[in-house]
Amino acid sequence: AFVVTENCIKCKYTDCVEVCPVDCFHEGPNFLVIDPDECIDCTLCEPECPAQAIFSEDDLPSGQEAFIALNAELAKQWPVITEQKEPLPDAADWDGKSGKLPFLER
Ligand code: SF4
Ligand code: F3S
Repeated sequence: AFVVTENCIKCKYTDCVEVCPVDCFHEGPNFLVIDPDECIDCTLCEPECPAQAIFSEDDLPSGQEAFIALNAELAKQWPVITEQKEPLPDAADWDGKSGKLPFLER
């Protein structure tokens, strides 16, 4: 499956959701996740993310491994999102910052 990683937090650009053929993105307050049981590994979402936050679980940057379990867990709790919306207000400021995991809202 593909995985949404740390740089989505506090950005949430949502370009990714428009291209997913199986609608497997789920939305929380300041982060999106992919349901690993629904993702068909089509790869379409990966280049769409302006924050480059989406990776195959087989190709995760080091330090992002915890996001495999987080995507699986939160996809079960959060509603599906299929239409792009405005990014979070300070997205441009947060894009590329490290250490965003503590800011994840559930
Ligand atoms: Fe959806 Fe394809 Fe991305 Fe999986 S890889 S989340 S199926 S767009
Ligand atoms: Fe997040 Fe990138 Fe989608 S910032 S909402 S994974 S377009």
